[in-house]
Amino acid sequence: MSEVVPVALGERSYDIHVGVDLIERGGALIKPFARGAVPVVTDQTVAKLHLDRLLNSLRGTGIDARPVIIAPGEGSKTFATLESLLRTFLGMNVDRNGLIVAFGGGVVGDLAGFAAGVLKRGVGYAQIPTTLLAQVDSSVGGKTAVDMPEGKNLVGVFHQPKIVLADTALLRTLPRRDLLAGYAEVVKYGALGDAEFFAWLEKNAAQALSTNQESLAYLVGHSCRMKAAIVAADERESGQRALLNLGHTFGHAIEAACGYSDRLLHGEAVAIGTVLAFRLSQRLGHCAPSDTDRLVAHLKAVGLPVRIADVPGDAIAVGDILAHMKQDKKARDGKLTFVLVRQIGEAFLSSDVPADAVEAVLAE
Ligand SMILES: NC(=O)c1ccc[n+]([C@@H]2O[C@H](COP(=O)([O-])OP(=O)(O)OC[C@H]3O[C@@H](n4cnc5c(N)ncnc54)[C@H](O)[C@@H]3O)[C@@H](O)[C@H]2O)c1
Ligand SMILES: [Zn+2]
Repeated sequence: MSEVVPVALGERSYDIHVGVDLIERGGALIKPFARGAVPVVTDQTVAKLHLDRLLNSLRGTGIDARPVIIAPGEGSKTFATLESLLRTFLGMNVDRNGLIVAFGGGVVGDLAGFAAGVLKRGVGYAQIPTTLLAQVDSSVGGKTAVDMPEGKNLVGVFHQPKIVLADTALLRTLPRRDLLAGYAEVVKYGALGDAEFFAWLEKNAAQALSTNQESLAYLVGHSCRMKAAIVAADERESGQRALLNLGHTFGHAIEAACGYSDRLLHGEAVAIGTVLAFRLSQRLGHCAPSDTDRLVAHLKAVGLPVRIADVPGDAIAVGDILAHMKQDKKARDGKLTFVLVRQIGEAFLSSDVPADAVEAVLAE
């Protein structure tokens, strides 16, 4: 049982396969792109749980798969790890027309994708995302990056994968907290562009989050269709793709104020940020309070945080969040750019949000 979602980008087009136990068929699906040594980049956690099955499948079709295992977590998304990966690939003599496989969450995908983008001026790569966040978001669209001491994701390239395999069965081993964090991005898709999907989520989220495979596969497939359509229309984020940042201006600032620690996962920050974006839209007269209430009720029902005060630990100062936001967004004449909403399912970009409205929403 699987579904194919095409990403239409001319000569850079590729397919996202979504289904249950897809990695068992990984070898056959990846074989057309493989040549010579194929590094399979993964992290220690994913390696322990799932690597053997993938390697068996790849090697079963004659692919010369070579595991490359990094430490798990955001701490690996550095220039130093990138360099060490590149040197490992050079040591394996990876073919200019060959393939690198990224098997893991967003950290592995961003890192291995970047490495593929710059190795010998660009070799192909396959994304096999293993977290919900990576399946619905980071593995699709070709953004790759590493973090720098100056900030997250500041250095990277656009490099589209050759193929994406989203095997929802892999999500059974994902810790609940990571599953929910990824789910925040799914809610974001409904909130920004698809009211019907949002209503589906209200009905089916509990089942999907108990890793019911049928609901999960629908949810991942639909999210990928939405992201694929947006990316196909605006690959380099000169317009519409920016709508995917709904909840992220607030979210990034809250993450930064928490020092990007375990206190708050990215998806948790996005959940709070999306609520704040709705409140801001409401304050500016774009959106009815009942839509914000509906969003809050759903996020709460699944167990996601909805207020800054929900973040465990010391209270986060509004001033801190504002400072990070102004740093992030080049404020012009006291106006900020935000993704706002008219209602659930209809987001738009506004570049003249008054800073004092943002401040008021944060202070609420
Ligand atoms: N490129 C993009 O467009 C894009 C979009 C969104 C986020 N990102 C990036 O993605 C990263 C976050 O991704 P993430 O949340 O997947 O983080 P992650 O890769 O760190 O994975 C989270 C944790 O889950 C573990 N894990 C992964 N798969 C598992 C499985 N199947 N079972 C059990 N444990 C598993 C990992 O070892 C890790 O500890 C961030 O660096 C972010 O910047 C990129
Ligand atoms: Zn995000």
